[in-house]
Amino acid sequence: MARKKAAAQPTIPRPEKIAVALIINGAETQLSLAPWTTLLDALRDHLDLTGTKKGCDHGQCGACTVLVDGRRINSCLTLAVMQDGATVTTIEGLGADGRLHPMQQAFIEHDALQCGYCTPGQIMAAVACVHEGHATSPEQICPGEQ
Ligand code: FES
Repeated sequence: MARKKAAAQPTIPRPEKIAVALIINGAETQLSLAPWTTLLDALRDHLDLTGTKKGCDHGQCGACTVLVDGRRINSCLTLAVMQDGATVTTIEGLGADGRLHPMQQAFIEHDALQCGYCTPGQIMAAVACVHEGHATSPEQICPGEQ
């Protein structure tokens, strides 16, 4: 009995890389990325900005929080190509002139680090919380705990 010749497998074209321009911590940055690259992976794997942490990689833990155009986002939930042209601030870009940002200093002074892994995300979220006007009173920060 003759064997049937296997059908030729369809050729799946490799996706092209896409040019992405970002301003990261004040520096214009050009990247060439696969379209499915998350902003988190672009920061960590393509730019060695490893201060932004990958925790759950599903938008649940906040370890990957960065500021995009001044607003906090979970960088694991957005594709880098979706942020083309945006201004991104990571934990590495928070301080200035060799000094810590006041929120970083406050975390140290109040020993607010826990294990430390997600601390960069917590600091970025805290900075955004203040900027968004959600930290003008103790009641806003910890409702029901006064
Ligand atoms: Fe957990 Fe992004 S890594 S929310």
